Amino acid sequence: MQAALLVANARRADIGGNPAGWLAVDSDGVIAGEGTGNAPAGDYGEIIDADGDLLFPGLIDTHAHYREPGLTHKGSMATESRAALAGGITAFFDMPNTVPPTVTVADVKAKKLIAARSAAINYAFFPAATEQTAGILDELMAEGVPGIKLFIGATTGGLGAPEGRALGALFAACARRGLPVMVHAEDNGIIADNAEYYVNKYGTRATVPTACHALIRSGAACRAATRRAVDLALRYGTRLHIAHVSTAAEVALLRTVKAAGDCGITAETTAMYLDPEFCKPERHADNRLKVNPAIKFEEDRKALLDAVADGTVDTLGTDHAPHLPAEKDGGALTAASGTPSAQFALPVMLEYLPSDVICDRMAASPARLFGLLRRGELREGYVADFSLVETGHPHRITDEDVLSPCGWTPFAGRTVHSRVRAVWLSGREAYRDGRFSGVVPSGLVFG
Ligand code: DOR
Ligand code: ZN
Repeated sequence: MQAALLVANARRADIGGNPAGWLAVDSDGVIAGEGTGNAPAGDYGEIIDADGDLLFPGLIDTHAHYREPGLTHKGSMATESRAALAGGITAFFDMPNTVPPTVTVADVKAKKLIAARSAAINYAFFPAATEQTAGILDELMAEGVPGIKLFIGATTGGLGAPEGRALGALFAACARRGLPVMVHAEDNGIIADNAEYYVNKYGTRATVPTACHALIRSGAACRAATRRAVDLALRYGTRLHIAHVSTAAEVALLRTVKAAGDCGITAETTAMYLDPEFCKPERHADNRLKVNPAIKFEEDRKALLDAVADGTVDTLGTDHAPHLPAEKDGGALTAASGTPSAQFALPVMLEYLPSDVICDRMAASPARLFGLLRRGELREGYVADFSLVETGHPHRITDEDVLSPCGWTPFAGRTVHSRVRAVWLSGREAYRDGRFSGVVPSGLVFG
């Protein structure tokens, strides 16, 4: 075999991490060959001895909030994409709750321009669903949007869902074009009623403790909104991806819906909801862990972990959402919701998920579901986005390690046993041991 680059002596994360394996990349940054066992003899421009590190496909984070434009005091495409790259992530899909929100074709174009100048990894941008979206879908799709983000339930940024008829029209228009709707599903009415109860109990909005967050943004609120989104998708035949599923009840609903046949309804969860520490009752008072939807309870985590393992939950996103420490001060109804998680999601998840499951749910499956061509797998003919992850060396994550300017991580204090050593974009080394080499991402193509 002849290739520009050979990675030899790796362990293939995508096939369980056990067999030794290799990857060859041609000079165009495309995978020229791959396999288990020893690499074939050949003529290689460069040979990298992976020394037993895990070889991962580049992770595709289909749920990220990189804060630009308008919120760059929290983060920017430059800073957050570098943090993600250091975490083995080679593409991000950015959410529309920026300032201004991403709504029009011009908004998408503006974000693409910023990204072209500054993003360290590949990118795509979700527009938010509004009353006007159905009428501009073709123009939005021409800009390469991965789908439409629908907020059934208000969260950071206050974006809302289109009302009655406009919502149906949007689901129908997306269905006709095969474009996914990605939904944030929490029921505003249930949340408002719960909030009123706790405001009465504690006297003011400001004095409701953070520990009430999961009771206000309750499992029932998630279940009701997810049910509504699923009903709409089934009625119109729309591809629906349910973002950050956080409850056992939604998992049960998903199982029922999926058992009825291939209905184009899929779901995501994140490392926040799978974490064995974060769902403990004492952690519910921790503002760092305050996210929307709220992290729920142990029985929810267990159901979600099973659902990720058996594929009922199709993708893992990070929901990376930096806020400054001061913005995270306050209580259940005043502290900012959201947490920066991209940099350490992979080593943290490797503590409790098999590497092949992570590869599928965070690379192959996102590429498949959103129609990304030639990404997400270590396969001949695919773009050579990959990383090497060292294992077996325990180390403690601290806030000092954080690359995002917010300067903190919900995983601080956690001991993990793996570390992303180096990451390649289209066959070129973009990151190694804390250093970025400035490789320009090649751009995603949606099929
Ligand atoms: O916790 C959250 N933070 N949930 C969201 O839906 C938005 C995100 C943010 O942008 O901060
Ligand atoms: Zn989000």
